[in-house]
Amino acid sequence: MIYPIVIYGASELKALSAPIEKGSIDVKTLSEDMFATMYQAGGVGLAAPQIGMNIRMFVVDASPWAEEEPALADFKKTFINAEIYEYGDEEDYFSEGCLSLPGLYEDVKRPTSIRIRYVDENWEEHDEFYDGYAARVIQHEYDHLDGKVFTDRLSPLRKKLVKGKLVGFTKGKYKASYRTK
Ligand code: NI
Repeated sequence: MIYPIVIYGASELKALSAPIEKGSIDVKTLSEDMFATMYQAGGVGLAAPQIGMNIRMFVVDASPWAEEEPALADFKKTFINAEIYEYGDEEDYFSEGCLSLPGLYEDVKRPTSIRIRYVDENWEEHDEFYDGYAARVIQHEYDHLDGKVFTDRLSPLRKKLVKGKLVGFTKGKYKASYRTK
């Protein structure tokens, strides 16, 4: 099933998402649906709040970056109840976009590496280190679970400069090639 994507301004994108209890929902089917929704919209990551569900789950497929980082060729993962418990000391800027803020791209500063614990769609536990593009997209999606979007991380000046666009989103003034709500 393909879900419509929730656009900036919606309350689901500002809410704190709740952990998922094992067996409470069919996370395998939801994971497949989230990937399908993400692919048809052309994204590399999608968090549950973006389809209107305030639960701690997101999916990532970083394979589009495999040319620059060959290790990402088969990087397709589902993160449930993830906890980023360590951030590297280094930070860098990277141009981010978001399916919930169509057409907006801004350089965002984040730590370049993380350590994260989570369970996958088979409820298997993982404890992993990520850097590069993977660390970037994971942090972006993780923010959605805490009611944050990438524009929340911009400098006051950049925030001012994108304010008009953000207001536009809340008024339905945007173009997206996928179904939104
Ligand atoms: Ni996003």
